[in-house]
Amino acid sequence: MSDLGLFDVMYSTRAMRRLKSDPVAPDLLLQVLEAGTQAASGQNTQPWSFIVVSDEKDKSFLATHYRDVMNKQFSDYRPKIEDQSKGARSMRAAWYLSDNLHNVPVLLLVCGVRDWPFSVPEKDRIGKAPPSYGSVYPCIQNILLACRALGLGATLTTLHQLFESELQEYFAIPNEYGVVAMIPIGYPKGHFGPVHRKPAQTVSYLNRWGNNFPS
Ligand SMILES: Cc1cc2nc3c(=O)[nH]c(=O)nc-3n(C[C@H](O)[C@H](O)[C@H](O)COP(=O)(O)O)c2cc1C
Repeated sequence: MSDLGLFDVMYSTRAMRRLKSDPVAPDLLLQVLEAGTQAASGQNTQPWSFIVVSDEKDKSFLATHYRDVMNKQFSDYRPKIEDQSKGARSMRAAWYLSDNLHNVPVLLLVCGVRDWPFSVPEKDRIGKAPPSYGSVYPCIQNILLACRALGLGATLTTLHQLFESELQEYFAIPNEYGVVAMIPIGYPKGHFGPVHRKPAQTVSYLNRWGNNFPS
């Protein structure tokens, strides 16, 4: 475990998309998954399950589909070499991940129970994530923070949602579960943090929307 404090970890956990192909030890991965399972969930239902994908053929399945989605949906967003803006740098990293996904040592599928605890008619559920997925996100965040604390790079990705039925079938995931996130994990090529976010004060109000939060 690193000696970084919690706030150091939170302030430097960013999408690490350039990863080495060096393997990650199973005991380290288990530590990451244990951290995930410490998260809170609605009524403590703990609606998560994980598939740790490290087999070359299985990674290749994910990488091929992921790349197809990137090519179909985002080919207009391949930044030009000369564009050095923040947005272009981030997009370039997203393309790098897509082009190199098969070389990442671990692709973690975080699965979640599909549950609609409130009364939402079937017809109104189309295209929406089940509310129970909200109970999986604290677990996902714990996983990302644990990776950072252990010196592992990771990125929360959701593009797999565009090939979810193939994914379900390939990995024999029962229909009551969906794949909430795919998290590529490995040792980073670059450096962690700092993250760039809007200052809290610019998105916070006191008592009523629009009332400045005092410094
Ligand atoms: C809900 C969610 C979905 C995301 N999906 C993807 C994705 O499919 N592919 C990807 O490369 N990054 C994905 N990201 C990573 C974000 O793009 C990234 O965290 C954001 O641009 C900020 O960058 P930073 O974390 O490096 O500061 C996702 C992040 C979140 C929170």
